[in-house]
Amino acid sequence: MNVLSISFSTCLHSIVFANTKNYIYKIKNLIKLNKLNFMPEHLLEVKGLKKYFPIKTGLFSKTVGYVKAVDDVTFSIKKGETLGLVGESGCGKTTVGRTILRLVEPTAGEVIFDGKNITTMDQKELKKYRKEMQIIFQDPYSSLNPRITVGGMLTEIFKFHEIAEGEAAEKKVENLLERVGLRKIHARRYPHEFSGGQRQRIGIARALSVEPKFIVCDEPVSALDVSIQSQIINLLQDLQNEFGLTYLFISHDLSVVEHISDRVCVMYLGQLVEFAEKEDLYANPHHPYTQALLSAVPVPDPRNKSKRIILTGDVPSPSKVPSGCYFHPRCPKVFADCSKIHPDLAGAGGHQQSCLLYPESYPREIKAA
Ligand SMILES: Nc1ncnc2c1ncn2[C@@H]1O[C@H](COP(=O)(O)OP(=O)(O)OP(=O)(O)O)[C@@H](O)[C@H]1O
Ligand code: SF4
Ligand SMILES: [Mg+2]
Repeated sequence: MNVLSISFSTCLHSIVFANTKNYIYKIKNLIKLNKLNFMPEHLLEVKGLKKYFPIKTGLFSKTVGYVKAVDDVTFSIKKGETLGLVGESGCGKTTVGRTILRLVEPTAGEVIFDGKNITTMDQKELKKYRKEMQIIFQDPYSSLNPRITVGGMLTEIFKFHEIAEGEAAEKKVENLLERVGLRKIHARRYPHEFSGGQRQRIGIARALSVEPKFIVCDEPVSALDVSIQSQIINLLQDLQNEFGLTYLFISHDLSVVEHISDRVCVMYLGQLVEFAEKEDLYANPHHPYTQALLSAVPVPDPRNKSKRIILTGDVPSPSKVPSGCYFHPRCPKVFADCSKIHPDLAGAGGHQQSCLLYPESYPREIKAA
C-alpha cells in the first residue's frame, strides 16, 4: 500500500466516521424527542376524565344540575409530541387543559404524568409536578401582575422554585428573554409596556422558566394578528425541538392546529368525537362533525374548495345533553339509531371516531347481542 492509498483510506475512514457520528447524534436526538416510534413512550395519559360544574340556585345554594364540561375523556400524549385539541367554543377544551394540571379539580378519572398519578397527589407532592407541567394562556396580560416588572416576575419564580437567586437569577432572566425573542432591557419593563405578541413571548418565557416537560398551550395565538401568529407558532416549534417539550395545543382554528400538531382530537359537548394522526384526520375525516368543521376552513385555491357543510341548530347546553349521540340534533347524516344509542370512541389503525356509521362505535353490549 503506497502513501497515497494510506492517506486516501484514512481520509475516507474519517469521513465515514464523521458521518456515522453525525447520524448517531441525529438518531439519538430523534429518540430523545420520541419522533422515531421505536417505543411510543407516553408522557401523559388521561383516563375517563370528567369535570362537572354544579349549577346552584336559591338561598341555600341547592345543586339543581351539572354542567358536564368534560365528560369521560381518554387520550394520551407521547414524549415530544404535539397533540391538537379542537372544537367549537364552550365544548370543554380549556377545562380539559386546566383539569389535567389540577388548576380545577376533576370530578372523576385519572391523569398519569410521567408514570405518576397526578389526580391523587397532595399539594406538597403536586408542587414538584407543577414545575414540569405549565400553561400558556390566550390572554397573557390578564395573568401578568401589572405592578411588577417582567424581570421581577421571573426572578420571583426562580426564587419560589429554588432555581436561582441574585446575580445568577438576573443572568437567567436575560438568557430566557433573549431565547423567546425579547431583549435584556425588557426585564425592566411592566406588562402594559408590551405589544400583544411580546406579551405572549413573556407568557412563554414564564412557562419555560421552570424548565417544564409538558405545556398546555390554550389558544396561544387566537388573540394575535396573523403575521404575529406565525412568529409565535415558529417559536413554540423551535423551543419544542430544542428542549424536547410535549404540547397539548388547544385551538378552534383548524389551520393553526394542522400546522403544529402531530395528532389531533376533535371535541364536541365535553367528549372526544374523533382522534387521529394529523394527515389522516385532515385527508379523511370520519365524524360528520369533523367533516363540517373542515369544510369551513378557507383554502388557498378557491377552485379546490369542497362544498361547505352548514350545521343547523345551536350547540346544546352541556347541562342538558341530548340522548344517544350528542351530535344527533345537528347531524346531516342522522339515522334512527342515533337518538337512542351513545356511540363509543373506537376505530382501527390509530384513527378513532364516535359515530354509529362505523360498526366499531356500537357499544360492546349491543355488538354482543
Ligand atoms: N368555573 C366554571 N363554572 C361553571 N361552568 C364552567 C366553568 N368553567 C367552564 N364552565 C362551562 O364549561 C363549559 C366548557 O367551558 P370551556 O371554557 O372549557 O370551553 P372551551 O372549549 O375552552 O371554550 P372557548 O373556545 O370559548 O374557550 C362551558 O359551558 C362553560 O360555560
Ligand atoms: S352517530 Fe349518527 S348522529 Fe352521531 S355523528 Fe354518527 S351519524 Fe351523526
Ligand atoms: Mg377555552
